[in-house]
Amino acid sequence: MDLVWITVSISLFLKCVDCSGTAKEWTYAGAVGQPEWAEFFPECGGSSQSPINVDTSQTLHDPTLIPVQPLGYNQPGNRPFTLSNNGHSVQMTLPHWMGFAGLPWYYGAVQLHLHWGNGVGVATGSEHTINGQSTSAELHIVHYNTEVYANISEAKTQENGLAVLGILIEAGEEINQAYGSILNYLGRIRYAGQKVAIPAFDIQSLLPDNLSQYFRYNGSLTTPPCHQSVLWTIFNERVKISHSQLMKLETLLYSSKAEEAELIVLQDNYRATQPLNNRTVLSSFISVSVQIYTAGEIAAIVIGSLCGCIGLAVIIYFIVKTIRLTSSWDVLPSIRPAPEPRTQDVAKEHKQDMALNMTSNPGKPEEDQDAPEPKT
Ligand SMILES: *[C@@H]1O[C@H](CO)[C@@H](O)[C@H](O)[C@H]1NC(C)=O
Ligand SMILES: *[C@@H]1O[C@H](CO)[C@@H](O)[C@H](O)[C@H]1NC(C)=O
Ligand SMILES: *[C@@H]1O[C@H](CO)[C@@H](O)[C@H](O)[C@H]1NC(C)=O
Ligand SMILES: *[C@@H]1O[C@H](CO)[C@@H](O)[C@H](O)[C@H]1NC(C)=O
Repeated sequence: MDLVWITVSISLFLKCVDCSGTAKEWTYAGAVGQPEWAEFFPECGGSSQSPINVDTSQTLHDPTLIPVQPLGYNQPGNRPFTLSNNGHSVQMTLPHWMGFAGLPWYYGAVQLHLHWGNGVGVATGSEHTINGQSTSAELHIVHYNTEVYANISEAKTQENGLAVLGILIEAGEEINQAYGSILNYLGRIRYAGQKVAIPAFDIQSLLPDNLSQYFRYNGSLTTPPCHQSVLWTIFNERVKISHSQLMKLETLLYSSKAEEAELIVLQDNYRATQPLNNRTVLSSFISVSVQIYTAGEIAAIVIGSLCGCIGLAVIIYFIVKTIRLTSSWDVLPSIRPAPEPRTQDVAKEHKQDMALNMTSNPGKPEEDQDAPEPKT
């Protein structure tokens, strides 16, 4: 009882420390992991959160959604860009002249950053998913509404404040030079808090070729404090980076500082998809429906093939049974039943035969293995 009380009061105390502190340390997994975000950052529990799964059968085609128009993206200038490890991601500040049009306001670029997984098993790492499919990573290019707000700090808490371009990234064979302009420098910012100046490069080359196909919805920042101020644009076309480039992203960075004793690899910095609630996801194009079959047709196909399989299994069973039955009579002529065999006995005999076969079979490969016995 005492122990429970002490634990409870300690955890309450720690929570209060966290509440009063200005810099709340959040993580993707751990003490202030994703399930706890809403406790410390109330907006993370809101009803218009990001990322989401885009279900293309539920999107609404909006023919007024014109192609995304990046402005100044391909004019990098000659001053270096600043790349930094902020402990949650790799981030690069963008020059003030970059932005994008095609929305009711002009949005100026502020920064870009990436989200990724851990490289184990299936491709995970993107924040947004399309029809439940993740990709290996996701690039976010963050802009704020420069027509209405003075700066990003003001814009990020306000309606229509931010516009983010989301680019889904897959692993492929070829090296992507544009992404290399970032990924080649990760070794210089391995620890949280480190920065490096890198040569300016064409930001437009980070985008997919097709800027006319995208999904748009109202959502939030995908990291605390999760302000619900983001107008999202998720491109339908994925970009590819090489497997080795992806591995750099997944393994080179630490979320810990250089002076910290414990090294923590910065991986799996993606948020789980959030409920869509009543939001509409618009699409700029008519998505070629992957669903050629209706639910009823799929059910019919599944049941049909299931019946087929069962039928085949039954046929094979009877063929095997017949073969076994005849062969057992040949091997054991002494227990061959009288001219009028009682079916029960036959069945028993057959079962014994099966059991014998089953116990004797596993022995065989062992014998084979023992036979050559190479000694070196
Ligand atoms: C952002 O703009 C607001 C309002 O003009 C101002 O009070 C604030 O100091 C600015 N913040 C930064 C970081 O420039
Ligand atoms: C984008 O895709 C659409 C539909 O497939 C096509 O009509 C359009 O020409 C493509 N645009 C580019 C720039 O590839
Ligand atoms: C986003 O919200 C604004 C109002 O806050 C609305 O006018 C706009 O249509 C919404 N956009 C989408 C894509 O739902
Ligand atoms: C969704 O919208 C309907 C009606 O438009 C409303 O009754 C319902 O409460 C809304 N649900 C959520 C979760 O906002």
